Amino acid sequence: MTEAMGQLKDWRFSIDGEGIAWAIFDREKESANSLGRRPIEELNAIIERVEAEARAKTVRGLVIMSGKERGFIVGADIREFESFETEKQVIDSLMPVNQLLDRIETLPVPVVAAVHGVCVGGGLELILACHYRIGTRDDSTRVGFPEVKLGIFPGFNGTARSIRQVGPMAAMQNMLTGGMIRASAAKALGFFDQLVGSAGELRWAARKAVLQNRRSQRAGAAKMLLTKWPARDLLAKRMRSETAKKAREEHYPAPFRLIDLFEKTAGDLDEMKRAETKAFAPLMISDTSRNLRRVFRLTELLKNQAPKGFKWRPSRVHVIGAGTMGADIAGVCVAAGMEVTLQDISAEQLEKGIKAQGKLFARKFKTKATRDAAKARLIADPEGKGVARADVIIEAIVERLDVKQKLFADLESKIKPGAVLATNTSSLKLEDISAPLKDPGRLIGLHFFSPVPQMPLVEVVRGAGTREDEVNKGAAFVTAIDKFPLITKDVPGFLVNKVLTPYMFAAMKRLEEGEDKEKIDEAVRAFGMPMGPIELADNVGLDVCAHVAKILGQSSEGSRLERLVSSGRLGKKTGEGFYLWKDGKPVKSDRKFSGAELDRLGRELIEPMIAEAQKSLDEGVVDSADLVDAGMIFGTGFAPFRGGPLHYKKSLTAKDTAPAQRAAAE
Ligand code: NAI
Repeated sequence: MTEAMGQLKDWRFSIDGEGIAWAIFDREKESANSLGRRPIEELNAIIERVEAEARAKTVRGLVIMSGKERGFIVGADIREFESFETEKQVIDSLMPVNQLLDRIETLPVPVVAAVHGVCVGGGLELILACHYRIGTRDDSTRVGFPEVKLGIFPGFNGTARSIRQVGPMAAMQNMLTGGMIRASAAKALGFFDQLVGSAGELRWAARKAVLQNRRSQRAGAAKMLLTKWPARDLLAKRMRSETAKKAREEHYPAPFRLIDLFEKTAGDLDEMKRAETKAFAPLMISDTSRNLRRVFRLTELLKNQAPKGFKWRPSRVHVIGAGTMGADIAGVCVAAGMEVTLQDISAEQLEKGIKAQGKLFARKFKTKATRDAAKARLIADPEGKGVARADVIIEAIVERLDVKQKLFADLESKIKPGAVLATNTSSLKLEDISAPLKDPGRLIGLHFFSPVPQMPLVEVVRGAGTREDEVNKGAAFVTAIDKFPLITKDVPGFLVNKVLTPYMFAAMKRLEEGEDKEKIDEAVRAFGMPMGPIELADNVGLDVCAHVAKILGQSSEGSRLERLVSSGRLGKKTGEGFYLWKDGKPVKSDRKFSGAELDRLGRELIEPMIAEAQKSLDEGVVDSADLVDAGMIFGTGFAPFRGGPLHYKKSLTAKDTAPAQRAAAE
């Protein structure tokens, strides 16, 4: 090999004896590769060198790989996005990247991308500019365009290049939905040209691809016909109506702007590349994208709640109670690779709970072997033999203090030292549950939300006497089952239900005062919540709502809620509550309400939630305003594009004061 190029920090570069240049991406001091300013500049220097060597006929090709053990490129470096204030700044930052990718594409020697692990966003755009792409069949190897989730779309000319490579249907669908595609599906679609079994085979396969001057097969004429008029217009129309079913244009403009771009320019991909940059810039500096990027940062904050360097990896879990919550908690732990013993006093419930996990495993595991392995990791344990070996013991039995106290007192002598003891209680105080324990400081709360597989948040509850180490272990466990932990104080309702409840009850009060329920629900959806409060109450169950109200000191006496509960109309589960329910859906009229009216009502209905969020912060229920926002976004689906309740409150204040500040400045 010739000597490596000097001064590179994020890449390693060498040319081997066969004349193959190797560019290995390994960002300094980072666990993952992202395309920031410096790696782009260094890659530019590498390409310049390869261009010169190719002219001198001293290289036969270039291979681009990752030097990280896992993961190829996670996208552009979104930390750098925050410095952009104007569209011009965005365009100025995109131009050099797009010129670089054009240079890679026009290199006279073959350029091969060899991918192991995640390759998304800007990473996928980079490999689409290469001439040939090889991926590993590993489960970690995924490609995708997650940009829409950040309120933007691909900006390194990935819109045009992906259409050229896999055709408009697959490319647009992936850009519009932001999903991750496994290696085998990516190969079938045409993102990869070749797959190898493992990371160890990548180098050899890449070398062969260079020596044989292999070139990718682009989308055929039949697929590309859809970029021509009139098919393109029809396709755009269909995409617009499909997208509108999932997202409101006023809340999430990015996918709609992408469809506009496709409709106007996909007939000429060079034109599309230029137009992409122009359409991308305003999205990047919009409030929506800023707030969605904030949500992304909040996920990092949640994952890092246990102190840096705190390492604890549980592998065995014992769950007691195989009802609504316990069975799904067990399933989710198994899906994350853990071995789980599940206990219940009812044999019938135990069997039912285990059987119900088949659906989750079918979704999560694509081969029969991995599904069977998952089933084997979920063990029915009516006698509780697994307690002694478990790293984490989670109780999810009836919500009764005496029963829970007895269970924990009995468990304490059986568990191994260092194991985490947790309760999924939603309303009892940890101090009370742990009172009979010899070591009450070891009990934590792990408050899951229903339905467990879908809800990303778990509150890790710190009781007045709980040891910090146990709380940290709880947070580490939640991260290990691929959920977001939120450490909260032991107050009624913890954070999420405490903040949600006053809002739900204010909405029910509005209803009693004569406001239309459909209008209430629509107003809140127009604000950006996934579901209105009245429909949500019916979904949760009106008996559960009344119970939560009691815990949080909200009186439902003499209310419509109380009347419905006492007449057995409990919502969705009984077929009637505030709404009548048919086929799992509330029966609604098709009335339309005026936009301005909805806007005003929606903001009013949200107010109690904002007020309680502020109160919770002041009372120290969680440690920061960011954590309040994260809890509400991931625990209730609070409009992500608004950045969370407290961030929203701050933005309102900023808007109110901005004109006054301007006037003062003038
Ligand atoms: P559930 O009634 O569906 O299930 C409870 C299960 O525990 C039943 O299968 C029962 O046979 C079993 N059980 C009762 N006593 C037992 C004992 N001594 N030993 C072993 N098994 C026993 O109840 P669900 O809804 O799953 O709630 C469980 C816990 O989770 C409660 O503390 C509840 O407050 C809490 N929770 C419930 C949520 C929900 O949405 N349902 C949300 C968050 C927490």
